[in-house]
Amino acid sequence: MRAEDVRTVGIIGCGLMGSGIAETVARAGQTVVFLEASEELVERGRNRIETSTLRAVERGRLETPERDALLGRISGTTDVHELADVDLVIEAATEDHDTKVGMFRRLDEVTKPDVILASNTSSIPIADLGAATSRPDKVLGMHFFNPVPVMGLIELVRAITTSEDTVEFGRAYGVALGKTTVESRDRAGFIVNALLIPYLNGAIRMLEDGFATREDIDTAIHLGLNHPMGPLQLIDLIGLDTHLFIANVLFEEFKEPTFAPPPLLRRMVTAGRLGRKVGRGFYDYEV
Ligand SMILES: NC(=O)c1ccc[n+]([C@@H]2O[C@H](COP(=O)([O-])OP(=O)(O)OC[C@H]3O[C@@H](n4cnc5c(N)ncnc54)[C@H](O)[C@@H]3O)[C@@H](O)[C@H]2O)c1
Repeated sequence: MRAEDVRTVGIIGCGLMGSGIAETVARAGQTVVFLEASEELVERGRNRIETSTLRAVERGRLETPERDALLGRISGTTDVHELADVDLVIEAATEDHDTKVGMFRRLDEVTKPDVILASNTSSIPIADLGAATSRPDKVLGMHFFNPVPVMGLIELVRAITTSEDTVEFGRAYGVALGKTTVESRDRAGFIVNALLIPYLNGAIRMLEDGFATREDIDTAIHLGLNHPMGPLQLIDLIGLDTHLFIANVLFEEFKEPTFAPPPLLRRMVTAGRLGRKVGRGFYDYEV
């Protein structure tokens, strides 16, 4: 399968990431069939895409007729058999090992044998997903960033079983979506999170040690390095629970202290200070 021959894409899960991937694929002119766990979740997924594309129209990034055409190219289902004729699958279901392994086994049964099965997983080994199929050479990671329609990067993740042709497909397909791809081996964190998590943990430890105030830590990075925001502001945006989850996964994989979640992070998550989404993290927000 060549990237330019992809007409219909199956997307598994239409939550935060799946809905963004569906929108991006449909914007590139392809047809999307997304799979969700219930009719209610199909409806919710569709609403996410409608809201996001409406916002794009309001901001002048999409014309109304384009939006209507894009929405017309997306359908949702709860029946995996409706993915029988897709040319590519991008899986973006809940980050749960057994869910994803079971899903890849099922996808292997229902899709055409030459179809590439990609996963947006952040931490589950691509090799595990490949091993659940009869086509591990055609299984790769395609790690998108949130919000998908806006963010320009895809990390392509090559398991030891992924073929060069499949990686080449990933590169070309990234271009078709208007994204830039980088390539990473199959280990937790890939490139971005492997660099980001120790940095964010370091900022929490600085605060915890009383080395500097939260404002000074954030201002130092914002103005000293020209980052759009400081590390504590960034953790509030990501969500402290999400950061803790990723830090735990990385620590589990590498056993390096820089990945270990600082005690303050755990205490804040236990106390429900999860960041912007709940109105309180390192800072207070109006919700
Ligand atoms: N949130 C991020 O910033 C981010 C960034 C990159 C990658 N990811 C990865 O993307 C994936 C999805 O994350 P998310 O943040 O969109 O989660 P989410 O909870 O918003 O969405 C997951 C969706 O998958 C659906 N789902 C679960 N089991 C299913 C099944 N068996 N069949 C069909 N649908 C099913 C759920 O109903 C849900 O709507 C995860 O692997 C995550 O690690 C997330």
